Amino acid sequence: MNILLELLMTLFKVFSALFWASVHFFIPPPQKSVKGEIILITGGGSGIGRLLAQRLAKLGATIVIWDINKEGNEETARLITENGGKAHAYICDISNNSEISVCSETVKREVGCVSMLINNAGIVSGKKFIDTTEKDIVKTFEVNTFAHVWAAKAFLPDMIKNQHGHIVNIVSSAGYIGVNGLSDYCASKFASVGLTECLDLELHFAGHDYINTTLVCPYYIDTGMFAGCQTRFPWLLPILDSDYAADRIMLAILTNQKQLCIPRIIYFLVMLKTIVPASASPYVHRFMGGDKLMANFVGRQGNKKTN
Ligand SMILES: NC(=O)c1ccc[n+]([C@@H]2O[C@H](COP(=O)([O-])OP(=O)(O)OC[C@H]3O[C@@H](n4cnc5c(N)ncnc54)[C@H](O)[C@@H]3O)[C@@H](O)[C@H]2O)c1
Repeated sequence: MNILLELLMTLFKVFSALFWASVHFFIPPPQKSVKGEIILITGGGSGIGRLLAQRLAKLGATIVIWDINKEGNEETARLITENGGKAHAYICDISNNSEISVCSETVKREVGCVSMLINNAGIVSGKKFIDTTEKDIVKTFEVNTFAHVWAAKAFLPDMIKNQHGHIVNIVSSAGYIGVNGLSDYCASKFASVGLTECLDLELHFAGHDYINTTLVCPYYIDTGMFAGCQTRFPWLLPILDSDYAADRIMLAILTNQKQLCIPRIIYFLVMLKTIVPASASPYVHRFMGGDKLMANFVGRQGNKKTN
């Protein structure tokens, strides 16, 4: 094809995407149905995973939950079935590739083909780089990054065969912007951002556009995972309410949104990062309170709240 024509067509696609993004800012696009879908959520035993599981079950999906927390897992399944929904809870340590392999075969046999995978489980050590042990770092990557890879590898072939599927990776704004005191977590989340972007491109160029991907990058949420963390300007960068975050993620999933950052200012901060010279970055971080963000972190060890 003539290169000029190709350029014009590309520009047309870019501008029409911008046009529709502006329209959808005011009028959300239609939502898809998840009735009858089999949706697997890792880390569904608490926090965001549980809230998504309850919401998706209410819409008629069959929910499969994987978690290492037996009590939390059973509680999520109970909350769903008590409300007339369908849930299957499995103990699965997703930091272990062979356990993912065994659990995925069990799910295929006992429940059926998973049509939506929500990679949600995550952990944080909350330690400074100098204090992180090899075990901390490896575990963080196993849960926050490698599990996304192995779970996608386990379920993607069926999605391709059935020409239908959706992979949702719950990552973090810390997958775009480095945070003082979160080196292992940020590195694992940056990797997952890259994985999701590449996977989406590969699916597109292989002609598998019927499989959607959604990359979710929230700021801190009040689930307890980051208990103790403080934000300097709560009116600008609030600690998100977990129900609000779950509602926004649901909307992104149901409208096949490719990427969601919450709150919206994260989009601007990511752009700012690419414009401001790297030498000035620590001053912007300090002003935004990024130097002390993790100062009072206690995490799940100090806060047993579960949603
Ligand atoms: N809470 C926040 O501030 C925040 C902000 C941005 C992104 N996120 C991300 O959102 C996701 C959900 O976070 P949350 O706040 O609901 O956390 P959470 O601690 O409430 O839930 C995480 C769940 O993952 C499970 N899990 C941990 N290790 C596991 C393993 N090896 N195998 C199976 N399950 C395992 C835990 O048992 C828990 O039920 C995580 O990926 C997190 O990194 C959270």
